[in-house]
Amino acid sequence: MDIILLGPPGAGKGTQAQRLVEHHGMRQLSTGDMLRAAVKAGTPVGIKAKAIMDAGELVSDEIVSELIDAELTAMGKETGAIFDGYPRTEGQAEMLDGLLAKHGRSLDHVIELEVNEDALVERITGRFSCANCGAGYHDTFKQPKVEGVCDECGSTEFKRRPDDTEETVRHRMQVYRSETAPILPGYEKRGIVTRVDGMGAIDEVTGAIDAILA
Ligand code: AP5
Ligand code: MG
Repeated sequence: MDIILLGPPGAGKGTQAQRLVEHHGMRQLSTGDMLRAAVKAGTPVGIKAKAIMDAGELVSDEIVSELIDAELTAMGKETGAIFDGYPRTEGQAEMLDGLLAKHGRSLDHVIELEVNEDALVERITGRFSCANCGAGYHDTFKQPKVEGVCDECGSTEFKRRPDDTEETVRHRMQVYRSETAPILPGYEKRGIVTRVDGMGAIDEVTGAIDAILA
């Protein structure tokens, strides 16, 4: 099964994708995570992407689609893909159709996380993650069980994203509305869009998504 998790910055795409990986053995394909890894490694793609990401703008359709293509090539057809933060433009939605056909796959669901944008600013500015294993946390909503120690790997090093300031978050939301939201009608025509209330507790949202995939 291949699905797209769609929603504005902070909607919970990454949080829910991590749950789906655990519950269903699917694979999370987050272009944001791939780009951050490229920035960290200092690859040519990372060098190009860093300033664009820090400003909350979009990296080119070609760059992100090549990253997705490489992942789909590396993973087996039997493993379901969760597209997290991709596609984000009409051009990327078209490219994804081409990539799925190339890899003999097809899209089963587009799950739109519906959220209240004002609440998202609080979600994003409070977000941090384990510097070692990447497990996600939040100052208010999801603290590690033992303060300062990662639940998953025991590391005591945490990090915050440079694009998680209020000003950049508001700009990323505007980019979502103008560039990404317009891809929804195309998927609606295919009858594969389901909306989930993304404002519930993390477990409630997971339950709603599990019900769609069951
Ligand atoms: P990307 O990394 O994709 O960021 P984003 O879309 O802005 O989304 P986020 O990762 O900020 O939010 P999320 O929905 O994953 O929320 P999360 O689960 O973390 O992209 C970053 C940048 O990379 C882009 O701006 C662009 O420059 C570039 N890029 C990436 N993909 C691209 C593409 N395809 N094309 C071009 N450029 C691209 O949750 C947020 C917080 O809230 C967490 O702390 C979490 O614990 C908490 N939380 C989650 N759910 C709940 C809940 N239900 N209740 C309470 N708290 C919750
Ligand atoms: Mg994310």
